[in-house]
Amino acid sequence: MYICLCNCFRETELRAAVDEGARSAAEVFESLGFQPQCGGCLDFADTVVQEYLAARSAGRRGGGYGNGRARQSSPGSIWLCR
Ligand code: FES
Repeated sequence: MYICLCNCFRETELRAAVDEGARSAAEVFESLGFQPQCGGCLDFADTVVQEYLAARSAGRRGGGYGNGRARQSSPGSIWLCR
């Protein structure tokens, strides 16, 4: 599942950032090397971070949704999620 459509990253990448120490949406963005664009995902990303931390501390890992990758349709154009 995509978390951020502006930067095309998914829950699996968010979880990896949390595994490396991120504890908020802002820290996930920093860890992944992205900047929030529209900001529309920030509350949701924070919720997913907190739910993942709670699940992890309870010994649950849960399933992922695959690895998100982004590509640019052409140089200087918008980035597309695939
Ligand atoms: S959807 Fe994440 S910054 Fe826009």
